[in-house]
Amino acid sequence: MPVSGVNGGTVMSTLTKLALGAMGKLRPKPAKGDATTSISLPLPRKQGGLPLMEALAGRHSSREFARDPLPLPLLSDLLWAAYGVNRADGGRTAPSAVNVQEIDVFVALPSGAYHYDAAAHELHLVLASDLRRVTGYQDFVDEAPLDLVYVADHSRMSLVPVGQRESYASTAAGAIAQNVYLFAASSGLATVIRAWIDRAAITDVLGLTHDQQVLLSQTVGYPKMAV
Ligand SMILES: Cc1cc2nc3c(=O)[nH]c(=O)nc-3n(C[C@H](O)[C@H](O)[C@H](O)COP(=O)(O)O)c2cc1C
Repeated sequence: MPVSGVNGGTVMSTLTKLALGAMGKLRPKPAKGDATTSISLPLPRKQGGLPLMEALAGRHSSREFARDPLPLPLLSDLLWAAYGVNRADGGRTAPSAVNVQEIDVFVALPSGAYHYDAAAHELHLVLASDLRRVTGYQDFVDEAPLDLVYVADHSRMSLVPVGQRESYASTAAGAIAQNVYLFAASSGLATVIRAWIDRAAITDVLGLTHDQQVLLSQTVGYPKMAV
C-alpha cells in the first residue's frame, strides 16, 4: 500500500489511516484559514429546539456528512448543550462523579484544534492544524466540519477511587455524547460517537500529559444530501 505523501491528500481511506496509525505516522493536515488563538463564542440560545420526546424519537447515528462548516452561533449552542455551564455554581449540562468535571472537550475544526473553556464559553487554540483526520479511522471524519474529542483528566479525579476512574470518566463522556446526539436531533444535524480511534495519535498531536486519557470522539455536521 502506498503510504508516502498521503498525509497531504484530502480524504484519507480507512486502510491508509490504519497503516499510518500502525507506523505512528498519522498526522494532521495544514489548517484551512487563519487559526485564531481564542474564539469567543456567542451567547448560547437556551430556548427553543424540539420538545425532548421528539428529539429522543429522532436520535440516531449518521455516518454521511456534508462538508459545510457549522456557523459560529450553532457551534456555540452545540458546545453549551454538550458540556456548558448551566448554573450559577458552575454546574454543567452533563453529570460527573462527585462533580469533579474531569472531561475536557477538544474541538477539531478545519482551522485548528481548540479546547472548549466552558466557564468562559470560549475556544482556546491548542494546535494550528487540521486535526480532523487524526480523530478516527473512518473516512467521514476528514470531511465533516467538526470532530469532538473527549479526554479524561485523571488529575482531577483524586476523590474517585482509582479502580473506578476510567469507567466513571467514560460514563461522563457518554452523557456529553448523548447531549450532542439530542442537540443534533433537535437541530437537523448528523452525528456519531466513535470509539474506533487512534488514541496514541490523538494524544501525540494534542500534546496530552500522562494524566490525560483520550476516551471517545464524536463527529458532527450537516447530513449529506442524496444527489
Ligand atoms: C461506546 C460506543 C462506541 C462507538 N463507536 C463507534 C465507532 O467507532 N464508529 C461508528 O461508526 N459508530 C460507533 N458507535 C455508534 C454505534 O455503532 C451506534 O450507536 C449503534 O450502531 C446504534 O445505532 P444508533 O446510534 O443509530 O441507535 C459507537 C457507539 C458507542 C456507544
